[in-house]
Amino acid sequence: MITHGGEVEAAIQKSLWGMDEINLMSTAGKKIVSVLVVDGDRPFLEAVRADPSFNLPGWVVRVATSREEMVRAIGEARADIFVIGGGLSDCGPIEALQKSKELSPNSLRFFVYTEAEKDLLGKTVGLTHRRVEKPVTPAALNLAVRQVLVTHLRIRKPEVAGIVRDTKELHVNTQPMQELLKTADNPECELEDLARIIRQHPTAVATILQVVNTAFYGTPGDVETIEEALQILGMDFVRNLAITELAKKQLRLRPGLHELANSILQHSIETSQYGLRMRQYVKNLRLIQQISSIALLHDLGKLVLLAAKGNDYADLMGQSVDSNTPCWKLEREAYKCDHAAVGGFLFAMWGLPEVIVRAVTWHHQPEKVGEKDFCATSLLHFANYAAHSNQGVSCYCGDRLNEDLAVRLGLSPDFAYDFE
Ligand SMILES: [Fe+2]
Ligand SMILES: [Fe+2]
Repeated sequence: MITHGGEVEAAIQKSLWGMDEINLMSTAGKKIVSVLVVDGDRPFLEAVRADPSFNLPGWVVRVATSREEMVRAIGEARADIFVIGGGLSDCGPIEALQKSKELSPNSLRFFVYTEAEKDLLGKTVGLTHRRVEKPVTPAALNLAVRQVLVTHLRIRKPEVAGIVRDTKELHVNTQPMQELLKTADNPECELEDLARIIRQHPTAVATILQVVNTAFYGTPGDVETIEEALQILGMDFVRNLAITELAKKQLRLRPGLHELANSILQHSIETSQYGLRMRQYVKNLRLIQQISSIALLHDLGKLVLLAAKGNDYADLMGQSVDSNTPCWKLEREAYKCDHAAVGGFLFAMWGLPEVIVRAVTWHHQPEKVGEKDFCATSLLHFANYAAHSNQGVSCYCGDRLNEDLAVRLGLSPDFAYDFE
């Protein structure tokens, strides 16, 4: 840790800022989702307001074409969700996003941008929960809003926040982790920059070289530098692997728990490899690569639970084996939350991309953010299941397959045993 005493506390508060519970407005016992769409494009505003997906019971949609109108609207009634675009009469979209965050720190914020506004994306880090490129249909925008909403309703629970709050070792304010995380959402990060940051951490370097030199990645075992590993494995993969190593190191688990932590991380690498093998069924190679990187992080919440609950959690893992019950179900009974939500909260607090937060949060219940096609969440679920089915993790019981979802997406319920 490079910060101490009051500084740590202040920094923790800063990284937790805006991660409090979402209390949706309610009238007569019914929850109301209040959306404020702020955009200079009037036809777009009208299309959103008229679309059936934004007119479901419990949804209130208001619109504004300037910052002034937005501020007035917030003064009249709270907004839970801001959808902010360009063309405003009195300011740019970044300024409007900043104002919405200032006035409603716990709100969920979306940036809808045009091709010409792409250069603004770098300035939205920490301001938005999701960025959506125009043209976008109101129905697709609504799906994006609902996915982020259900995810944040799940992770911003007092039980989840309590566990992460108590695990102060992970509150970002260690300079190495900060540097690493900053590169995650930065499209301008160069390979050399990331290599320089990772080289400062010998344990991360050792793990990365160990992984890249396994036969799975088709290398003859002679990769010696981080630069080469980055070329072969990709920047996201290497960064995520470094994040897991750093997190493990910072958590300073008791010696008796190290073996469990290592088997969780080994399972994460195996899940990542099954993610890559899913290309047998999924044509979208970018999605396959994305999922193989996200898989490295998917069970990091388990390490947090190990640090927070110690032997109690180790015992719970044992019980899941004895009773053949997926571990996440026992976690919910015991702690009123599971490792998936804990991981999701941590990654949202760290400011990692929303797709990571969403996929990790729902990897045991992908149907909750279901899309019609394969997506990061469903693929993570399948890859995790395939890894458990083929490699097994002896210290806890994994997860069952959501067969309905598999069949709906064209996968055989036995797909996990059919890899070439
Ligand atoms: Fe999991
Ligand atoms: Fe897993």
